[in-house]
Amino acid sequence: MGQNIIVNKEQMTFTLNTNNSSYQMKVDKYKRLLHTWYGGKISGADYSYLIEVLGRGFSGNPGDVSKEGDRDYTLDLLPQEFPQHGTGDYRINALDLVWENGARGTDFVYKDHKIIGGQPELQGLPHFWTSADNKEAVETLVVVLEDLYSDLELELYYSIFPEYDLIVRSSKITNLGNEEVVLKNIASGALDFINKDFELINFPGRHLKERNASKVELGENIFQIRSTRGTSSHQQNPSLFLQEQGACEDKGEVYGLSLVYSGGFNISCEKDQLGQIRVVAGLDDSNFSWILKNGESFQTPELAMCYSPEGRGELSRNLHRAVNNNLIRSSWSDKRRPVLINNWEATYFDFDKDKIIEIANKAKELNFDLLVLDDGWFGKRDLDISGLGDWIPNETKIGGTLEDLIKDVNELGLDFGIWMEPEMVNEDSDLYRAHPDWALAIPGREPNRSRVQLVLDFSRKDVQDFAISAIDNVLQTGNITYLKWDMNRSLFDLYSHSLPAEKQGELSHRYVLGVYRVLQHLLDNYPDLLIEGCSGGGGRFDLGMLYYTPQIWTSDNTDALDRTRIQHGTSFVYPLSSISAHVSAVPNHQNHRVTPISTRAFTALQGAFGYEMDLSTLSESEQEFTKKFIDFYNKHWETVQKGDYYRLVDPYENTYVTAWENVATDKAEAILTVVYKDLAAAGLAECIKWKGLCKDSDYKLTLYKGSEEFDCGVYSGLDLMVAGILVERGRQNYDSVCYIAEKV
Ligand code: GLA
Repeated sequence: MGQNIIVNKEQMTFTLNTNNSSYQMKVDKYKRLLHTWYGGKISGADYSYLIEVLGRGFSGNPGDVSKEGDRDYTLDLLPQEFPQHGTGDYRINALDLVWENGARGTDFVYKDHKIIGGQPELQGLPHFWTSADNKEAVETLVVVLEDLYSDLELELYYSIFPEYDLIVRSSKITNLGNEEVVLKNIASGALDFINKDFELINFPGRHLKERNASKVELGENIFQIRSTRGTSSHQQNPSLFLQEQGACEDKGEVYGLSLVYSGGFNISCEKDQLGQIRVVAGLDDSNFSWILKNGESFQTPELAMCYSPEGRGELSRNLHRAVNNNLIRSSWSDKRRPVLINNWEATYFDFDKDKIIEIANKAKELNFDLLVLDDGWFGKRDLDISGLGDWIPNETKIGGTLEDLIKDVNELGLDFGIWMEPEMVNEDSDLYRAHPDWALAIPGREPNRSRVQLVLDFSRKDVQDFAISAIDNVLQTGNITYLKWDMNRSLFDLYSHSLPAEKQGELSHRYVLGVYRVLQHLLDNYPDLLIEGCSGGGGRFDLGMLYYTPQIWTSDNTDALDRTRIQHGTSFVYPLSSISAHVSAVPNHQNHRVTPISTRAFTALQGAFGYEMDLSTLSESEQEFTKKFIDFYNKHWETVQKGDYYRLVDPYENTYVTAWENVATDKAEAILTVVYKDLAAAGLAECIKWKGLCKDSDYKLTLYKGSEEFDCGVYSGLDLMVAGILVERGRQNYDSVCYIAEKV
């Protein structure tokens, strides 16, 4: 140990090193923990020399400091590791709490530190982890702070994953005193940059249009992304990239932040009066308060921080590796995902056993692996207005038992998967009639309804236990190998019938902890179950969910062209293995666009691949194509799921095409896909440069166009990367071409 965490007791600095980055904090003469560096790898000197300590009007001095007569030292301007309300720092802060007398504020100073091997478990919360074999490579620094005026203790955790240039942080506050305090806000982490100017990239969206990578210039103000919806949301994603001006996919310093949390969140970024930049990230404080009594602690969710000196692409690839290898807990993280057929867009609620078997028959003929029975198989559920909560198969509708249906599908040679929405209830359900107090609702007020449903109060243990037994019962009906866990509305009416008035502010976070408890039960008891997360598509696509569910339904929008944009934005943080993507019918059900089947397939290949349509509506040639394409997937899935991903042409910036590339980890093969968004009459053919190949090797190029295949000769890796290739022209709107380069 001791390789990546360097404690210099003379300087009182803690320097954390990854392969390409360093992070430093320092205990100063007043015992405050200053933040002195985060960026490129440095030698480990004391970087506080970069900080100017200069008194300025209206920036005050902490009580103990001013008593010494020091009028220059002000926490209003100094870069700090964990800025708090109450220290004379008027910028956004990472900690705010209220004392029994109504006063607010803390002033934490250094007390102690320790270094531990590996990454500690975070009870009840998802977190990055280390296996027993790489415990040596990962170390955790815990810096312990104490409040100058009370018995509160604050621990700051930093786990270092050197090979991914990743530092994972969290904070934990413990009340060692007798006075009760109410936490109003506690962030997972804060970052102060004194000499940087950044462009910010965030990922706004909406239902059917999630995670659009969007660049923002930071003015002298506060830029905030947040979700108050109780989930990470379609509208924002708990992730933010900060890049030096002009940085791009391959050049420039980039920092990537992402919370390992699935509830509401807040990531704020402030440029202060000197142009210094502070970022604070953590759970949503607008719906939050938490009582801490003597001996009680509060542990925040984790914040992942990644750094790349060479552009966004490398940062994303590092995050992908880290998530695949050290975040996803499921045994599926590195396995080939089954090619699935989902019946949702094929039938919606209108199906019976015969229809499902008809789809299954066709799926088997075309070499699919798994059939997923989506919404509508349980309770009174012929429309989306009733039945949620009653997880009993509707045998009248199915035309037999669920058990028999599963057996029949299995006998055809397909695995069986099923849809559930465990967090929800319809008022028209036996569950609601028996337990109306299990739904979130404010007494005496009509509840807000969304999709005609209410949210079950997952902060309650009895509700969690009900969900566990309902899911257990379903999973034990037969050989079910896949579960789609859906969640189709945002939280509102934040009132729990089981919490006292003063604890209602704990509800949103307790809700998330409840969801995690049920998901943990599934991980523990069904180690081979493949769980797909979903929230009306990608309304809860975050690192917290990925800990439990190795893949997430990316969007309810299945249009191939829209998906190129959604998947592009999603890929900034999340690995392709987690991005569920399906081929669906044309005209597309969301935007009515007609795209060729090859474009739908090549786009869906960039994720956990499947189909979601009535396969019997495919023409003969589309069926032929599908069969061939599943072979193609079976041959190349590893390059996509585990390989390196390169965003080649930004779908927002280029009007005509978008392109991406997957490179196998050993660089033996690469897949380059180009989608024509628009056809340019008489324009130049697109010239695209490959990335990530072995420059000293030769590659044989094969072009795939529709279901045809063409040999394009042999090129050197160097030429493909430096000179590029002229891409085969698209012949119709939304056409696509795909090249495979294989080392010879
Ligand atoms: C959500 C999901 C869809 C489908 C429906 C079923 O919208 O995102 O994929 O499962 O629910 O009601």
